[in-house]
Amino acid sequence: MATIIDHHNKESGYRPVAANPLSREDFGSDFKWGVATAAYQIEGAVDEDGRTDCVWDVFARKKGKIRNGDHARVACDFYNRYEQDLELVKELGFGQFRFSLSWSRILPDGHGRVNQAGLDFYNRLINKCIALGIEPWITLYHWDLPQILEKAGGWKNRRVVEWFAEYTAVCANAFGDRVRHWIVLNEPMAVAGLGYTTGEHAPGSKGIHNFLPVVHHLALSQAEGGRVLRKLLPDARIGTAISCSHVIPNSQKSADIRAARRADALMNRLFIEPALGLGYPKDAFPFLSNIKRFMREGDSERLKFDFDFWGLQNYFSVVVQHSYLAPVMWLKDVPATLRNVPTTGLGWEISPAGMYEILKQFQRYKGVRELVITENGAAFKDTLKDGKVEDDARQAYYHDYLEAVLRAKNEGINITGYFAWTLMDNFEWAHGYSARFGLVYVDFKTQERIVKGSGRWFADFLKKTER
Ligand code: NOJ
Repeated sequence: MATIIDHHNKESGYRPVAANPLSREDFGSDFKWGVATAAYQIEGAVDEDGRTDCVWDVFARKKGKIRNGDHARVACDFYNRYEQDLELVKELGFGQFRFSLSWSRILPDGHGRVNQAGLDFYNRLINKCIALGIEPWITLYHWDLPQILEKAGGWKNRRVVEWFAEYTAVCANAFGDRVRHWIVLNEPMAVAGLGYTTGEHAPGSKGIHNFLPVVHHLALSQAEGGRVLRKLLPDARIGTAISCSHVIPNSQKSADIRAARRADALMNRLFIEPALGLGYPKDAFPFLSNIKRFMREGDSERLKFDFDFWGLQNYFSVVVQHSYLAPVMWLKDVPATLRNVPTTGLGWEISPAGMYEILKQFQRYKGVRELVITENGAAFKDTLKDGKVEDDARQAYYHDYLEAVLRAKNEGINITGYFAWTLMDNFEWAHGYSARFGLVYVDFKTQERIVKGSGRWFADFLKKTER
């Protein structure tokens, strides 16, 4: 696991911006500004009010899976502190709050019995958002599959599509009267790749044999979730969120160019193209044609759904090269830390140009109506000094990425919103609490919240030009 790079030693080559030449007005008065979060990363209260284990609870209990043996039993204690935290969202000037629902809080058996206490929590949270004038955006699935469903095969079992449809219907019926914006899945590629192939994420399953069935069941659920929402909530704005990264070949050798196309197929095309009716991107990566073994008659149709918007989550660019050491994929990435480029604390390449390129790439799809940046942000080694966190590097990161988004928008790409990842430091999956992504610093011993310099910068940016 990568160690956190300290950017405050000023050797990273990444300098803070002096002033803030960007203006909120440049993005237009109806552009949406939000912060994004996820249930498992912030809620805690894992045993409270009838919630059952999700795959991450079980994974985190296994030795050596999470850095420093961290777990999310308390996390940011958002379950009990959501009111103050939403007030903070308001204070920072954001108008949208993206959060995910914990499936096992709502359906403790995965399907069937509904836990009213679980629904009540989200009702309180949604009502608080509305009372503060913040628009709630729901993500249905942000990686926390009920463990009971994992025992039945999880995303490897095609029945997950039915389970997910049922869960979606319960949520739509419970919250659809107040929530207009819905995101079906969050980064399905991470689930298939890290959760079921490399085993770095829950449920920790390993093996390339899992990859294609899991991809297919996620892609079917993505579309099916969209259909369930459309049927029950005809006025809802329905989207889904995918990770994406601009991919650059390490050289102009044809083997490297082909490797870059394979990486692009996996990282950027895999979940959008079947929904748009283009099928899986087998042209760039013939291995994907094996997915037909898991397809049933009618699936090509079932994979399609006309989303109102596509949520893009971009953090870094990648450089890839051909590799004989990686059977199946035949590629490896050239780590940013070896390329003399600025990186975040996790060693991810800071690449506003990559954000711009990837927006252009997604705009080329005819079936894409609208794009929303549903996540963007950075982890850095924050230091608390005299009660303050002056995270200049994160501030510069946001500034430069926003500039790239604006450039793309000004060139006519229909981007309607931007969500910073994330409101406050939280449980960063396998990195535990070692990677801090928040605009707000969290002292995990006392649960104290301290707005970082980047949070103040954002608040300033959002307020200065508020109408
Ligand atoms: C993507 C995920 O959706 C989110 O949960 C995670 O914390 C961030 N990226 C940062 O890694």
